[in-house]
Amino acid sequence: MRKQIAVLPGDGIGQEVVKGAVEILRAIGERFDHQFRFTYGEIGGIALDSTGTPLPDDTIELCKASDAVLLGAVGGPKWDHNPPHLRPEQGLLKIRKELGLYANLRPTSYYASLADSSPLRRDVIEEVDMVIVRELTGGLYFGKPSERTYSNGEEAAVDTLYYERAEMKRVIQQAFELAQKRRQKVTSVDKANVLESSRMWREVAEDVAKNFPNVTLEHMLVDNAAMQLIKNPKQFDVVVTENMFGDILSDEASVLTGSLGMLPSASLSEQGPYLFEPIHGSAPDIKGLNLANPIAMILSAAMMLRISFGMTEEADAVECAVQQVLENGYRTKDIYSFGKNAVTTDEMVEAIKAEILDNGTILHIMGAYA
Ligand code: IPM
Ligand code: MG
Repeated sequence: MRKQIAVLPGDGIGQEVVKGAVEILRAIGERFDHQFRFTYGEIGGIALDSTGTPLPDDTIELCKASDAVLLGAVGGPKWDHNPPHLRPEQGLLKIRKELGLYANLRPTSYYASLADSSPLRRDVIEEVDMVIVRELTGGLYFGKPSERTYSNGEEAAVDTLYYERAEMKRVIQQAFELAQKRRQKVTSVDKANVLESSRMWREVAEDVAKNFPNVTLEHMLVDNAAMQLIKNPKQFDVVVTENMFGDILSDEASVLTGSLGMLPSASLSEQGPYLFEPIHGSAPDIKGLNLANPIAMILSAAMMLRISFGMTEEADAVECAVQQVLENGYRTKDIYSFGKNAVTTDEMVEAIKAEILDNGTILHIMGAYA
């Protein structure tokens, strides 16, 4: 197959981890005989420096003309004091909006070999397998007004939590469709004891549930959900929630896996192309040091193969290679534990790549005997 992939490395470790993911995709192309064409675009701080805007029009065009988008991370201290519309993060919000990426899937699963990297007890995290479906183009992130004002001679500030019914419905629908293919359970997270938007969210969830009689719907208040995620994470299959709650809960969920550096995500729209990015940020403190964990980015590329290109075997190959390398004891700094083999970003990528290409050989040899 031929596929055109837009690559937006962005800032900080985004550059390093995206380079790794591209190498892994080249290895997949080689083993499975696909032609992946990578075209690079700018987003975030790097785009601000070269064009004066965090998301240049040609980056949007490039994404729209591609089969899928791979994104690293944006942001850094250099731009932290920019005015709101000239922050790198605005580039990320704008590309999500421009591409209509309303559903952000953030899977968290248990890696037996990483159990020691999590601060939580093994028996609590064992066999965790959940997906947070985060609404991505509405809520507090986009509601207007969002500004500084004056009231009674005092400085004040306002952000707006606004959702239309259709926006709630389409993301909740995605969650149910996903749950149907998994363990048939949806936990809808809200703050319905306080917020009107949450009361409406609950109503919409109940409505959508009527079309999925075999999926169980449960409602949970967000503060309780934050506690349950740490206390008993195994109870969750698919969690669906609005933008900001999803942002917060997905960082929390990453602790179950051992590190933020392990969690990939897929952002889906009605028409495509879809966008794939790790849930972590640009980690300016370790930028350029070859220390970042490339696995979240590489697993995001695996999600791209599976979801955008329907390449199941190829995605499995990437995920198995990651699993194998972890079992072999390779660890970047964030997941290091005593006695393991400490590696750099590049070495981790090399190890995963070798696994992908070697597996190819092993399968081939086995084929010869079969
Ligand atoms: C994420 C990030 C972004 C978000 C930031 C960088 C704007 O935290 O993707 O989770 O809040 O959506
Ligand atoms: Mg976040």
